[in-house]
Amino acid sequence: MKPPSELPAIRTSMLPKDTNAYGSIFGGVILSLIDLAAANEAERQAPHRYLTVAMDQIAFHAPVRVGDIVTLWAETLSMGRTSIRVRVKVLARARRSPHENEVTTAEVTMVAVDEAGRSIPILS
Ligand SMILES: CC(C)(COP(=O)(O)OP(=O)(O)OC[C@H]1O[C@@H](n2cnc3c(N)ncnc32)[C@H](O)[C@@H]1OP(=O)(O)O)[C@@H](O)C(=O)NCCC(=O)NCCS
Repeated sequence: MKPPSELPAIRTSMLPKDTNAYGSIFGGVILSLIDLAAANEAERQAPHRYLTVAMDQIAFHAPVRVGDIVTLWAETLSMGRTSIRVRVKVLARARRSPHENEVTTAEVTMVAVDEAGRSIPILS
């Protein structure tokens, strides 16, 4: 297993298209970023095509607002035969603030698959 990356898996800013009518970001937008961050981390560990097989229970601790800079840190927890379990931590800060709020943390299991979508060993 490679050591944790010193770079975030994703850093992006939240746009008006990502918000509900009240100006805060849809939870589903953050879930989608978590999925992408976990896939990026799995690919960093071993270059395959991955599918998400499971995501654990998620609680949102702080809102994310339009314009916020959202950073997702991903760390591999374990590698099985065909699956990789990744922890993704989501932080958000207002554009001109140095302070980051912890939004949520998720554990995601990604499975390496072939072109037909069948699971394959991560390390051959
Ligand atoms: C991913 C998929 C191909 C796996 O099928 P499979 O090979 O028959 O599944 P298996 O039961 O052999 O499990 C494969 C690996 O996933 C793990 N796994 C399966 N279900 C899991 C779950 N609910 N939670 C955690 N890990 C799970 C298994 O432990 C195994 O890991 P290992 O090989 O490292 O030990 C199949 O479940 C699938 O296509 N799922 C849909 C994925 C998808 O489309 N995701 C996006 C949804 S929009």
